[in-house]
Amino acid sequence: MGSDREIDVFPPALIDALVDSRHIVVMTGSGTSAESGIPTFRDAQTGLWAKYRPEDLATPEAFARNPQLVSDWYEWRRQLVSKTDPNPGHTAIAALTKLVKQLTLITQNVDGLHQRAGNDDVIEFHGNIMLSRCTDGHPATGIQGDTESPPRCEQCGAMIRPAVVWFGESIPAAVLQRALAAVETCDVFFAIGTSAQVQPAAGLALLAKQNGATLIEINPAETPLTDDCDYILKGPSGAILPKLVSALKQTSDHA
Ligand code: APR
Repeated sequence: MGSDREIDVFPPALIDALVDSRHIVVMTGSGTSAESGIPTFRDAQTGLWAKYRPEDLATPEAFARNPQLVSDWYEWRRQLVSKTDPNPGHTAIAALTKLVKQLTLITQNVDGLHQRAGNDDVIEFHGNIMLSRCTDGHPATGIQGDTESPPRCEQCGAMIRPAVVWFGESIPAAVLQRALAAVETCDVFFAIGTSAQVQPAAGLALLAKQNGATLIEINPAETPLTDDCDYILKGPSGAILPKLVSALKQTSDHA
């Protein structure tokens, strides 16, 4: 149970903005999963993959050039993700969803941890690493295991690949539509654990700000968004978000 100290941690106007909000958008990046043990994208790759840049692995060209290498990298990431659990930051976002009038969760992450923490409606901007499809877009049932070479689509024979959005690929239209609709109507926008370097995700925060939303960043480091934020909560999301939820519970009638 949060002590009354938490309420003093945050500016009263920030808490009021959450209490009075009609629609909050939370956009998360890989920093939100860092405390679950999943390396962020732009930290140095650990172990076997130290010599590759993600940008050289997560592209259609890389897959065409060396489908086995790319498939192995995703298999390695799936194994990693399957051994991790949601952290208190994920759990706090799920709790926040129940405390406010409306919250739309957009994630750039492909690890499915928000769903496992209790958010059942997540806009997965970059897809989901646990799902596969063929290069022609047919959903593939099984996750590719350690096969000799990427398996083939039963429907059309094309190679099976992860159902994620690679560099140079566009966000699926329906996903982008939903995200933009939420950003257009929100009055509070959280950018949590993202370096705000990849478009169009990074642009959503500024779009929300242009529409009059209060912009809040949670990140131990500065990002290109920091100067435009109304509130900067500097630190790990796994520590900050549970405190924010406790503070909110102490002010509204959800105590
Ligand atoms: N809590 C909050 N933020 C954190 C934490 C933490 N515990 N640890 C690190 N961060 C921050 C870092 O300071 C950095 O700003 O998380 C951010 C991670 O940035 P990136 O590694 O660039 O990840 P992300 O912003 O999600 O990348 C966006 O780019 O690589 C593609 O498709 C990939 O979805 C990804 C997209």
